[in-house]
Amino acid sequence: MARHLITSAIPYINGIKHLGNLVGSQLPADLYARYLRARGHEVLFLCATDEHGTPAELAAAKAGKPVADYCAEMHAVQAEIADGFRLSFDHFGRSSSPQNHALTQHFAGRLADAGLIREVSEKQVYSNADGRFLPDRYIEGTCPNCGYDRARGDQCENCTKQLDPTDLIEPRSAVSGSTDLEVRETRHLFLCQSQMKDELDAWIDSKSDWPVLTTSIAKKWLHDGDGLQDRGITRDLNWGIPVRRGDADWPGMEGKVFYVWFDAPIEYIACAGEWAAANGLDDADWERWWRTDKGAGDVRYTQFMGKDNVPFHTLSFPATVLGSGEPWKLVDHLKSFNYLNYDGGQFSTSQGRGIFMDQALEILPADYWRWWLLSHAPENSDSEFTWENFQQSVNKDLADVLGNFVSRITKFCRSKFGQEVPAGGTFGADEEALISDLSEMLKRYEQAMESMEVRKSAAELRAIWARGNEYLQSVAPWTEFKTDPEQAAAQTRLGLNLARLFAVLSAPFVPDASEKILTALRSEDNAWPDGMAEFLSALRPGHDFDVPDVLFAKISDEQSEEWQSRFGGTRV
Ligand code: 2FM
Ligand code: ZN
Repeated sequence: MARHLITSAIPYINGIKHLGNLVGSQLPADLYARYLRARGHEVLFLCATDEHGTPAELAAAKAGKPVADYCAEMHAVQAEIADGFRLSFDHFGRSSSPQNHALTQHFAGRLADAGLIREVSEKQVYSNADGRFLPDRYIEGTCPNCGYDRARGDQCENCTKQLDPTDLIEPRSAVSGSTDLEVRETRHLFLCQSQMKDELDAWIDSKSDWPVLTTSIAKKWLHDGDGLQDRGITRDLNWGIPVRRGDADWPGMEGKVFYVWFDAPIEYIACAGEWAAANGLDDADWERWWRTDKGAGDVRYTQFMGKDNVPFHTLSFPATVLGSGEPWKLVDHLKSFNYLNYDGGQFSTSQGRGIFMDQALEILPADYWRWWLLSHAPENSDSEFTWENFQQSVNKDLADVLGNFVSRITKFCRSKFGQEVPAGGTFGADEEALISDLSEMLKRYEQAMESMEVRKSAAELRAIWARGNEYLQSVAPWTEFKTDPEQAAAQTRLGLNLARLFAVLSAPFVPDASEKILTALRSEDNAWPDGMAEFLSALRPGHDFDVPDVLFAKISDEQSEEWQSRFGGTRV
């Protein structure tokens, strides 16, 4: 039994996320959290909405609402959808929380005391038409690195390069489209990341078990060109966390706010405080997850995120945490993902392309999406959603293999032995081989889950379902029954116990189906197997059960075609 702190990258508040966002952080984080809880570990799984910065302001302006109201509404919407996907956060917080305000200002104060913040007079793009500075996403243009013509002022979503608005070629205002821009002087705070380069480099070198995708991105930022650059951590915006030095004013910074990427990762910590407050707990209860001087020394902290978030999590946030000189927990393992593409192109929030989380739940239950997304997670390379592949995977894996097994064995038992686990018969070579195979397969599944190899975990789980099917198909109790009903009873009993095994092992992937199976089997015990033979005899002769409703309906060609055309264009 260990203690696991898990965070998922916190989604921007600006609208409902698409399935590519979901599979890049929240969903695999949920898989891992569910698995660790099932193994008896103590887990704190946190996520929140990322509510500051230009994405929030621009979206609120578009919706014609005050930013605070817009964020409150969208937080509720995102929370409900997360619930629909069965994302089992212990708390779904908000980066605009009072806890995050206080903690962000606290970190800035500590960093300043440590000499890691310097004030810079810099040139910022000012829009004459809009009468304001245009930081980050308020400005768009062509990426100087890859030529993408819709790069934003803070980052190019095409090549992931972090940018400054003044880097953009042919810049225009994202508010008005105006190109009547000029460069003006303004004062800002910079985090002296460059001073921490060696410390960060050594820290990353100590993470030999991190995926190459993660370390290579971090190393690139540390060593390419002139090496790690200091980053501006304040902005000329109205909405955000006011720049203060701890509890004190920060002369010269009046009217400015912290940069969204400064306060967003601090929300991982603040969210634990929100969780404690929401549950009537004390500061000590959340600090034992985050402060190594207050009990977090034995916590294992894992972060999940898309690859574009890696530089902030491997460099900027650790610089903030280390630079504070306080004993905050640093990330132990960082799992990053490539991109999921959609039917021959990219998912895109700004262009409304792909399937968005609310739309997905309108057409099919969460388990269908969870299974497809996780079993096709963009781990080692980008992956692609196609309707054909989705249909095939749901129909084959979920309907034909898992669903059909449960339905077939419960219905067969009902018709020949009634709705209770039959007695009689003994296990022979087939059963022993099955139990021994499943013990091995379970170990492989557990190993894959522990090392967060998401696709491999799905493949191992699928193999377990398939092995159960293969057993049932080969011993064929429906045929055996005609000549040796006692033996058929033993096979059926094992079959029902296999259905329970599938339910328990599948819960991290398809929690609703798992619960339905366990309810039908009237099994309240969902404890993870600790010895295959015992586990497969837990449902004793005479134990009552019900035949569940269809677990997974097949997707027809007509449905698949209709959805393909419905979701082919731009979301209106
Ligand atoms: O890329 C994104 O969606 C960001 N909102 C992720 C922030 S993660 C963190 F640092 F909090
Ligand atoms: Zn680019």
